[in-house]
Amino acid sequence: MSLADLVTRGIRELRAYHVPRPEGVRAKLDANELPDALPPAAAAAPGRELAEVALNRYPESDPLELRALAAAELGVPPASLVFGNGSDELISLLCAAFAEPRPGRTRASVLYPDPTFVVYRIAALGHGLDPVEVPVDDRMELDVARVDAAMAREAPNLAFFALPNNPTGTLWPPDEVAGLAVRYPDTLVVADEAYIEYGGRSLAPRLAELPNLVVMRTLSKIGMAGLRVGFLSAAPAVVHELEKLRMPYNLGSLNQRAAVWMLRHQRAWLAERSRAVVAERARLAAALAAFPELTVFPSEANLILVRVERAGGGGGGGPATAVWQALASRGVLVRNLDRPGPLAGCLRITPGTSAENDLLLAELPAALAAGR
Ligand SMILES: Cc1ncc(COP(=O)(O)O)c(C=O)c1O
Repeated sequence: MSLADLVTRGIRELRAYHVPRPEGVRAKLDANELPDALPPAAAAAPGRELAEVALNRYPESDPLELRALAAAELGVPPASLVFGNGSDELISLLCAAFAEPRPGRTRASVLYPDPTFVVYRIAALGHGLDPVEVPVDDRMELDVARVDAAMAREAPNLAFFALPNNPTGTLWPPDEVAGLAVRYPDTLVVADEAYIEYGGRSLAPRLAELPNLVVMRTLSKIGMAGLRVGFLSAAPAVVHELEKLRMPYNLGSLNQRAAVWMLRHQRAWLAERSRAVVAERARLAAALAAFPELTVFPSEANLILVRVERAGGGGGGGPATAVWQALASRGVLVRNLDRPGPLAGCLRITPGTSAENDLLLAELPAALAAGR
């Protein structure tokens, strides 16, 4: 018996989430962030605001002001919200709180389409739940019949659907996901609306009628990734359980204060910047599609998935990785997703500012040549 034997079984097979940070990045297009920071003149005001925060005190355990603003974003009652240190923490909380195996089973499970956001898998395995991964089709669209069959067969405790999805950018039909919540009332169906600003339609209006639906949001994709603020809205019984497990001071006081200030004073500017990203996404997608080596998947999020080559069993180490490397060495950082499986040959590009996107397009021909 060694310490290694004591590590939670599911964690043993995981690898730590690694974010490459090469030198000399001129266009950071790897993390689905908003490319614009507050202009320096506007940034002075929150600086003054943050100087007033009493750093010797614990933060508000219940962020009342933020709660009111977030509730208004979603159009839900403030009491229906649970806050997380990013929605990453909420995904983990959900898996921790709803981990009890059903009668007659030894383990509980978590269903999600594949490929999708990696944290669903990490959180499931970390909390001793079995992942049930349902492949999407060749166009990265949801195979609803397949998901339905897996829900019926596996009876997962939780099912996560990113609407729109990361890393594919596809918007799976929200009504189909609501339909699953209707048909499987004893599975918690989570609509992760992290990218809703860039496409899609919220399922929040269905919350009142569906007690097993959870709608999750984050401030990360709309210009506040540094603040680590996520929130979800759910039925009182779900909120009640999650609140028992949420650590009392999970949102730092500087982060709370900054989030409140941004939502009060800069919401319109942030929305306008997000619209600019949507316009850049269309321009970039069209320009990328003109390269014969690239397949461009349609996107409703602030990301564009491209396939450099469908690796015939190759995967990691193929042309896509060489193209990623060549782009990085030219100061353009995108996300390399090239590994065996449905994402073989794929890179994910976050639309940046016009100048950053122009830089990517200028460097791409040489980078693609490096991949040949
Ligand atoms: C679908 C999806 N949900 C949630 C998150 C995590 O967001 P947060 O920064 O709030 O933890 C991401 C981040 O990439 C995401 O892609």
